Amino acid sequence: MTKYPPINYSDYLQLDKVLNAQDLRSEEYNKKAHDEHLFIIIHQTYELWFKQILFEVDSVLELFGHDHFDESHMGIVISRLNRIIEIERVLVDQINILETMTPLDFLDFRDFLVPASGFQSLQFRLLENKLGLIPEKRLTYTESYYSEALREDEKKHVHEAEKAPSLFERVEAWLARTPFLKSPDFDFWGVYKDAVIKMFQDEEELIRNNSSLTEKDIENNIEQLAKSREIFDGLLDKDKYQELQDKGQFRLSYDALHGALFILLYRDEPALQQAFSFITCLQNIDELLTQWRYRHSLMALRMLGSKVGTGGSSGHKYLRAATEKHKVFHDFFNLTTYLLPRSALPQLPENFKRELNFAFTHKK
Ligand code: HEM
Repeated sequence: MTKYPPINYSDYLQLDKVLNAQDLRSEEYNKKAHDEHLFIIIHQTYELWFKQILFEVDSVLELFGHDHFDESHMGIVISRLNRIIEIERVLVDQINILETMTPLDFLDFRDFLVPASGFQSLQFRLLENKLGLIPEKRLTYTESYYSEALREDEKKHVHEAEKAPSLFERVEAWLARTPFLKSPDFDFWGVYKDAVIKMFQDEEELIRNNSSLTEKDIENNIEQLAKSREIFDGLLDKDKYQELQDKGQFRLSYDALHGALFILLYRDEPALQQAFSFITCLQNIDELLTQWRYRHSLMALRMLGSKVGTGGSSGHKYLRAATEKHKVFHDFFNLTTYLLPRSALPQLPENFKRELNFAFTHKK
């Protein structure tokens, strides 16, 4: 017995609403297509999971929504992001269920849907915007803006989400505030640059002193090394980094980039382990969304061949391109290029290490 009035299972879950929301259009027009039931159920399931993901993203944004993020919230942020990751795995797997429907079965009812399309999923657009997809970077397949496809009452919500700070922007600001980057004992960017220069000097020496290589081999290897060095120059020189940003190769601000690289390189330090897990979560979220986009584009190819989508796009072609173009946290993947092997990583000064671990250790 509790002090609250009892409630029935169906009433609590409002199953009368949920389980009575599968009206087959093919049945309405007296051409009942068996697989339309699955088609509706699977879309509704996706939308429910999108709702849960948005619920978690909103809560994370709220926790980050202050100029100074309270690091004691990091544990809860990571656990919510991990929940999103697990849901995304289910979203990718669910495509297998829909693919038990053959293209011919789909054709039995496809005409009843036109021009409805997942392209009109409000929640999917909100998710993209809240994660940080830049509106101007969106692929377009008609002359009109993506939100034009939405209902009038829905447009306002996506536009609001476009203007509100996204997770990407919150993370960027947080990274730019990374402590420990410069102190009287340690200048991260300085030591990183020195380590890169030394790494290339050592590699060049190894090539030149390798007696098993011919003159031609040495020349080729040195050429390759120069190319790798050029890639690092793009990062070490602020103006060159700006060029990479202009080309869309990087999005993070220069300060945020330093913070991210520091965390990735020194992630073994206790004070940085949570920050590293957090960045890994963002990578996983992006990767799984990309996987979903890719599986969905293949499913569209399987179902439609080169037909246009019900929403009027080039179908598979548009979806494939969006898979590549609509990533949000790609910087964290690109940063891997600039990691140094642990052996080449500059040691942190002892007192600085102690400072980094301060929160976790007792001072003697
Ligand atoms: C037979 C199964 C499906 C086919 C053939 C299909 C096909 C397509 C096509 C061709 C588009 C591009 C827009 C258009 O021209 O319509 C699209 C967009 C989309 N579909 Fe599907 N779809 C299917 C199932 C699903 C399911 C189960 C979901 C789950 C919610 C979904 C969600 C979406 C979303 C979110 C978009 C927008 C993607 C973007 O703009 O990046 N689709 N779909």
